[in-house]
Amino acid sequence: MSEPTIENYYTENRVFPPPPEFQAQALVSDNSLYEEAAADRLGFWARQARELITWYRDFDTVLEWELPYAKWFVGGKLNVSYNCLDRHVEAGRGDKVAYHWEGEPGDTRTITYAELLSEVSRFANSLKSLGVNRGDRVAIYMPMIPELPVAMLACARIGAVHSVVFGGFSPDALADRINDAEAKVLITADGGFRRGSPSPLKANCDVALANTSSITGVVVVRRTEQDIDWTEGRDHWYHDLIDGASEDCPPEEMDSEDLLYLLYTSGTTAKPKGIMHTTGGYLTQVAFSHKYVFDLHPDTDVYWCAADIGWVTGHSYIVYGPLNNGCTQVMYEGTPDTPGRDRLWDIVERYGVTQLYTAPTAIRTFMKWGEQEPAKHDLSSLRVLGTVGEPINPEAWMWYHEYIGGGRCPIVDTWWQTETGGHMITPLPGVTATKPGSATFPLPGTTAEVVDDAGNRVDVGGGYLTITEPWPSMLRGIWGDPERYMETYWSEYPGRYFAGDGAKIDEDGYIWILGRVDDVMNVSGHRISTAEVESALVDHPAVAEAAVVGAADATTGQAIIAYVILRGTATTSDELREEIRQHVSKKLGPIARPRVVIVVPDLPKTRSGKIMRRLLRDVAEGRALGDTTTLADESVVEEIRRREAEGTAED
Ligand code: WTA
Repeated sequence: MSEPTIENYYTENRVFPPPPEFQAQALVSDNSLYEEAAADRLGFWARQARELITWYRDFDTVLEWELPYAKWFVGGKLNVSYNCLDRHVEAGRGDKVAYHWEGEPGDTRTITYAELLSEVSRFANSLKSLGVNRGDRVAIYMPMIPELPVAMLACARIGAVHSVVFGGFSPDALADRINDAEAKVLITADGGFRRGSPSPLKANCDVALANTSSITGVVVVRRTEQDIDWTEGRDHWYHDLIDGASEDCPPEEMDSEDLLYLLYTSGTTAKPKGIMHTTGGYLTQVAFSHKYVFDLHPDTDVYWCAADIGWVTGHSYIVYGPLNNGCTQVMYEGTPDTPGRDRLWDIVERYGVTQLYTAPTAIRTFMKWGEQEPAKHDLSSLRVLGTVGEPINPEAWMWYHEYIGGGRCPIVDTWWQTETGGHMITPLPGVTATKPGSATFPLPGTTAEVVDDAGNRVDVGGGYLTITEPWPSMLRGIWGDPERYMETYWSEYPGRYFAGDGAKIDEDGYIWILGRVDDVMNVSGHRISTAEVESALVDHPAVAEAAVVGAADATTGQAIIAYVILRGTATTSDELREEIRQHVSKKLGPIARPRVVIVVPDLPKTRSGKIMRRLLRDVAEGRALGDTTTLADESVVEEIRRREAEGTAED
């Protein structure tokens, strides 16, 4: 028997089985996939690989595994862009819409599979004309415009490796990533539209390129038509290149284990890690999960993932999974509150969106804006709702279920990471009875266990989330740093991949993700998850959003500091702050009661919407701020400092 490693104070008892009407039309509504995969995991993945993908040459071996290195579908040859484009056109589906694209100012483009193939082929030839060869790295720094997936697919077509850098990153962050990958070509745009104004993408590139030496050519898409600087010989307009390019570009035959892309993600140190994803296994798992987790009916569905392609969610679930599966998507350039706070719901109604995939932070923002916004629109086309990126608190889950899903749409809470490439722990919408806030069970073909400090399996209770067997879309390493790969992911619990997340397993075997382990607080020897306390805070009717951190405390080791944003009508007072503290105490027990509740107008977030607890900890402990390059709005932290200095309710 082992002691639970992370104590668990929250019990959520609501259960939502798949609605019978949903089950009646679902791709799977029984345990057959789970049973098949449990009986023969490798045979199961081999079947998916052969059913979902067209191979030039079939693979000889499903898996070669020498910890920590996996090779999937060994000997298989394929091309990802062929699978995403050509074969749909060859099958007579060239006129099917691939993307309904909508710009923030309201301009729209409708792009069919045949048009996408033509554009990708011409741009692939353009890249060749710039000297890009198989294996070369290409950096991409773009807004959410159709040329972004075109650029990625063009790289995949000629066997070049893309490294997409999120368009909200600073010139320094871009330069670091270009240098680490030694990228040869950079693809960008003059800018993109965010909240009504054009972003300075090309200007940022010019700054970044002053500190890089590997780039020989820059391709610029014209989007905003703002004035930009131009370096003759180095810079090329995208439209000039493709105008003169041939449409004939046969896809390269790639090996299953050839590198498809790098995507940089932050770790515990300042240097970002270039996560490596390869071809056959990656495509298999993203295609499989996209099909079954969203219950895809490609002939009738209009699927929308509202993430940015600059993150892994966009790579796997806006580009590769959905296009491989030949479905019709919506792609949106801008912010959800431009011109009004109902922009997303307006888009859902106009295109008849059937699946919506977004993040808890967005859902909580929609809650804050109020249910009158979605109520302005007919959302009855929606069938499945998805969430990703952080633990979703049960109140936000219920709000999503009720006000967006009309009580009839299963919610798939998908746990995965840049490193895992595709979904790992998630419900299947026609099969799994969901509990609000739980990512439920491992996807068929994947295996997860919670372990304690000593690495012993925890059957019920809290601990650390580990993956016990290799999976097809797993990272193959960190670019240029094999030791860091071994050390970060495979050395904490021998034989297991350690995901860096805390998790608990309840009596029914449901997995509840408790957030990153560095987001676990230790109060008087009790480890308490920031996610659970935040969930309890948001459960108070006056609280819209919350972030908690453990700040050093002489008596208790760490003390819980809670930063909260109030809902529109609530006003701050000592009484209210005390009431909020007691509310947490009531929900989770006195041990989890925050020492201080600080009311703030906003929280420091990364541009992908993750709360930067590290910064909040620095503020709470009175330290100078560390690296803030990924912070979306720097003024937020100053305001929090000011409020903290004003003094707050305290024991
Ligand atoms: C968190 C995003 C709870 C988790 C795809 C993970 C989640 C990190 C969930 C990876 C979820 C992602 N429930 N937590 N459904 N999905 N996370 O690399 O801490 O940007 O380790 O990949 O996000 O973030 P990344």
